[in-house]
Amino acid sequence: MSETFEPVIIGFTCNWCSYRAADLAGTARMKYAPNVRLIRLMCSGRLDPTFVMKALASGADGVLITGCHPGECHYIEQNYKALRRYLLLRRVLKGMGIEPERVKLVWASAAEGMKLAQEINTFVEEIRALGPLGWNRKLAGNGHKVEEPALEVAA
Ligand code: FES
Repeated sequence: MSETFEPVIIGFTCNWCSYRAADLAGTARMKYAPNVRLIRLMCSGRLDPTFVMKALASGADGVLITGCHPGECHYIEQNYKALRRYLLLRRVLKGMGIEPERVKLVWASAAEGMKLAQEINTFVEEIRALGPLGWNRKLAGNGHKVEEPALEVAA
């Protein structure tokens, strides 16, 4: 794999926990890889699976989904919905010939800045080992019809 490959990762965070964990990591000067572009949602349950597919189709090499620990969601049990969507997404990706490991789910409370930073670093290295996604090339190679994405993820 090219040594210059820098994965582009989209991270969906929950406003009440993982976004604050990322904030804590920043204010505490815990370093984590700059490859992740965080998008704040009010809850992991707000994550529509199409957000993940659109991110991957638009140039992301991996997607990190984060949320409150089970039983701690501020919207009762919406993170269980996120868990089910995550499992479904991995099955869909596998069916499309794309490594399901390109999508990862992490629970992180607002106090777990260190944990989130470590999970981000680990995920970046896992995606680096997988190599670039190359959505269009991979899907075309698997016999799928490929349309140009509407959005591009800035490098
Ligand atoms: Fe954080 Fe629901 S409020 S996952």
